Amino acid sequence: MSKTYKFPKDFFWGAATASYQVEGGIYNNDWAKAAEDGFVPLAGSGGDHYKQYESDFDLAKSIGHNCHRLSIEWSRIEPEEGRFDMKEIEHYRKVLQSLNEKGLTPFVTLWHFTLPLWFVEKKGFEKKENIKYFSRYCEFVVKNLKEECKHWATCNEPMVFASNGWLRGQWPPFKIGRFLMIWTVVNNLAKAHRHTYKILKKESPDSDIGVVKNNIYFHVHKGFFNKFRARFMDWFWNRRFLKKVDRHCDSLGINYYFHSEYGNGEKKYPKSDMGWDLYPEGLYHVLMGVKGFGKGVYVSEAGLADERDKNRAWYIRGLVESMGRALEDGVKLEGYMYWSLMDNYEWSFGFEKRFGLIEIDYNTKERRIRNSAYEFEKICRSGELVVK
Ligand code: BGC
Repeated sequence: MSKTYKFPKDFFWGAATASYQVEGGIYNNDWAKAAEDGFVPLAGSGGDHYKQYESDFDLAKSIGHNCHRLSIEWSRIEPEEGRFDMKEIEHYRKVLQSLNEKGLTPFVTLWHFTLPLWFVEKKGFEKKENIKYFSRYCEFVVKNLKEECKHWATCNEPMVFASNGWLRGQWPPFKIGRFLMIWTVVNNLAKAHRHTYKILKKESPDSDIGVVKNNIYFHVHKGFFNKFRARFMDWFWNRRFLKKVDRHCDSLGINYYFHSEYGNGEKKYPKSDMGWDLYPEGLYHVLMGVKGFGKGVYVSEAGLADERDKNRAWYIRGLVESMGRALEDGVKLEGYMYWSLMDNYEWSFGFEKRFGLIEIDYNTKERRIRNSAYEFEKICRSGELVVK
């Protein structure tokens, strides 16, 4: 028996990117500095999207997308403390206008992991006193670009940012085991969001303003202790930050990549090129987990690294099935942005991992649409998914 999931007419279908991962030519932030110091791979001219955005958006449109999520690079807008660069604002204005002209609704994340060097010198989000700089930057951007964009998120994945930077030591500032600092950084990010939300709401009352959060499905199979561990992790990783900000969010962006199993022995799943389990069903549970907040929800990222494009099509279909089920079960789901529109700089892994619907040849900067993108296109254009 086949089943058809029908999505609302105005559902957003598209893909996401982030400034440092695709633009190229950014040398003034903490990641560029870390690359210069030999801690992470260089991003250099990368995907060259800063110059090629127009044709990249043509490709997105050609594969049926009607929205696009991107981020703005703080180190371009405010390269030195208090010095705002109007040339860069004009650049992003053109980027957003280009999206609007092509019928791709823009979703902008104001900060996606990378920080200007001057802000890092002040100890960034480790210090509560620095929140004001973040809010000032966000206010400046929204004040200037509010006509071009109505969907804003202040920050991307606070828990991932804090744990990779202060627990695992894989991302700037490369600290290990600093549990208290994770707590502090996440709390400061929540405060930064709340403070910024109030300012942005005054600046642009008709904008939809939220956060983007990475949530994990903590999957318990058996055992009281496992249940307890999963509950704790669900609170710590998924809910704690959201509870701190939800009264200051018009909608929630949810990113899904991981499920974590408790009490399931040796069960094996297919894996992405990152070595991550491919378990699209987990997205259903993650979405049900945020239903109680009562907000509109976007799947602001979900995707996989798959250089040979062997798993992408079925994985996307599985994700969309999870979204269809969540919609049927009352989640106010409003859109899905696949990660990522094109191959990009996968942080400490550099350019080797290929998440794109569009492949990039980094020698020539040429683009090629992957077959799975055409499979996704069918869903985007019809607004439905038939499951056999
Ligand atoms: C981030 C992206 C990243 C992706 C895949 C998310 O954590 O927002 O920047 O490339 O996952 O790792």
